Amino acid sequence: MRAAVYERYGPPDVVELKELDKPVPKDDEVLIRVRATTVSSGDWRIRSLTIPRGFGLISRLIFGVSKPKQPILGTELAGVIESVGKAVTRFKPGDEVFASTGASMGCHAEYKCMPEGGVLVLKPTRLSLDEAAAISFGGTTALEFLRRAKTQRGDKVLINGASGSVGTAAVQLAKHFGAHVTGVCSGTNREFVLSIGADAVIDYTQEDFAKNGETYDIILDTAGTAPFARCKGSLKKGGRLLVVLGDLAALLQAPWVGLTTDKKVIAGPVTERVEDLRYLAKLAEAGEFKPVIDRRFPFEQIADAHRLVDSGHKKGNVVVTL
Ligand SMILES: NC(=O)c1ccc[n+]([C@@H]2O[C@H](COP(=O)([O-])OP(=O)(O)OC[C@H]3O[C@@H](n4cnc5c(N)ncnc54)[C@H](OP(=O)(O)O)[C@@H]3O)[C@@H](O)[C@H]2O)c1
Repeated sequence: MRAAVYERYGPPDVVELKELDKPVPKDDEVLIRVRATTVSSGDWRIRSLTIPRGFGLISRLIFGVSKPKQPILGTELAGVIESVGKAVTRFKPGDEVFASTGASMGCHAEYKCMPEGGVLVLKPTRLSLDEAAAISFGGTTALEFLRRAKTQRGDKVLINGASGSVGTAAVQLAKHFGAHVTGVCSGTNREFVLSIGADAVIDYTQEDFAKNGETYDIILDTAGTAPFARCKGSLKKGGRLLVVLGDLAALLQAPWVGLTTDKKVIAGPVTERVEDLRYLAKLAEAGEFKPVIDRRFPFEQIADAHRLVDSGHKKGNVVVTL
């Protein structure tokens, strides 16, 4: 099978297509013929080791000290079950599925084995395989943070970085929870962010949301430009700052803010859960959640997909088709 392999940390050029052995499913595993995957901001960070301040050492310990331990990137996929191990009961050959492999990655390949009890569910019929491949990374991140903040009907929510993968999912999910949503993005993305459901948009190149006098129940920061020091005045009493992107200092500050102020900071990595994929699939089936695709690239051009992601200005998700 062909796989996109990187053997050293670096720019998009380190990714090359190589011929590898096709994996064989164990008794409790399914073999998936991957039809679509994404290049996410997570792939960019791990490929180039561009890690938020304070997390560099731990990242090298997890992903490989001098070179990558897992040479195949990709944390999400959609495809068709080709064969199943003899103990598998939940899936059968021909089933269309989508999945998240999280930090174990390995989705940038023509085939992937996963345990049937992994973060793997049937594809919603309403979505194409390309769209289903783009559900997990942004969707599960936005869902976990909005849930941890106990987002509810009537909350005023500001999403900083509303046009990216996590941001576009967060806008749609916050609207689903009944919130009033303000998206922050560049002016070129204003109409786009309104089109996915935001009630208002602030262009960060023209206006500083932290200085306009508005206050919010929840601020979700995917851009890393809204630390507590900047946005505490924009949070209502009891308000929550959701630090999707932050450095080690922001993580360590979180309990201190909770103890010393009437506000809360919620930070840290998310965990992939199969129930969350099922929840997102159900919303997608009901037409209440649709992953946004910026561009699709054929597998042969996966390095170009990495280049677009590296820009930090993609709209939603970048899909690679196989
Ligand atoms: N905590 C976790 O477990 C977790 C999970 C997933 C992702 N993340 C992190 O979350 C971050 C966002 O991920 P993503 O995939 O959504 O990234 P992305 O798709 O690249 O989107 C980033 C967005 O930030 C916006 N942006 C850039 N500069 C900005 C500024 N100064 N103010 C406001 N918005 C700005 C961009 O919008 P414009 O193009 O309009 O400028 C862009 O849409 C990544 O750094 C990733 O590492 C963390």
